[in-house]
Amino acid sequence: MTVPIVIIAAVADNGVIGDDDRLVWRLKTDLKRFRALTMGRPMIMGRKTFLSIGKPLPGRETIVLTRDPDFAVDGVHVSHGIEDALAKGRALAAAAGVDSLPVVGGADVYRQFLPMAERLHLTLVHARPEGDAAFPEWPRAEFRETVREPHPAGPDDEHSFTFVDLERVRG
Ligand SMILES: NC(=O)c1ccc[n+]([C@@H]2O[C@H](COP(=O)([O-])OP(=O)(O)OC[C@H]3O[C@@H](n4cnc5c(N)ncnc54)[C@H](OP(=O)(O)O)[C@@H]3O)[C@@H](O)[C@H]2O)c1
Repeated sequence: MTVPIVIIAAVADNGVIGDDDRLVWRLKTDLKRFRALTMGRPMIMGRKTFLSIGKPLPGRETIVLTRDPDFAVDGVHVSHGIEDALAKGRALAAAAGVDSLPVVGGADVYRQFLPMAERLHLTLVHARPEGDAAFPEWPRAEFRETVREPHPAGPDDEHSFTFVDLERVRG
């Protein structure tokens, strides 16, 4: 069994996920969920998302996709294509003994990995911000919802939100 690819994304009600290479909300509760879903696991992300975070996150291996042959950052694995990112991610996940390979954005990278994803962990953010990055269209009929958990905004959350987990329907 190869380790399942899971997509983790926070998506506004209008589909927006970011603007000008940044997130467009402050949602501390969602950052905690992101941490829990990714801790100890290798994460695949696009170069723009990596630069917006600015550094490798502690406790997780980071695989950055870029076509730039000169891109190099200490403490980060670099891949120049999806197959290489998957091979690195699977090897790191196996070495760490973890049960998932998170793909954490942004839009360009979600679009390419959605066809391979076994699970989606979405945070539906109840806001309609302006933004230049949107979650791609995805084949909803290929997934079934397993969790739907609405949350009011906590003290450090700018919006209310709903956690939704989906898994690919097989057979
Ligand atoms: N709300 C959320 O959950 C969430 C999560 C993550 C990111 N975001 C937001 O999403 C936005 C960024 O998304 P984005 O679509 O603009 O950028 P991105 O997906 O983060 O990065 C795109 C870059 O990744 C590299 N890349 C993509 N596919 C590749 C492939 N097959 N082979 C080699 N390299 C590849 C390319 O880098 P080079 O140009 O270097 O070649 C490409 O320009 C930001 O606003 C960010 O804040 C939101």
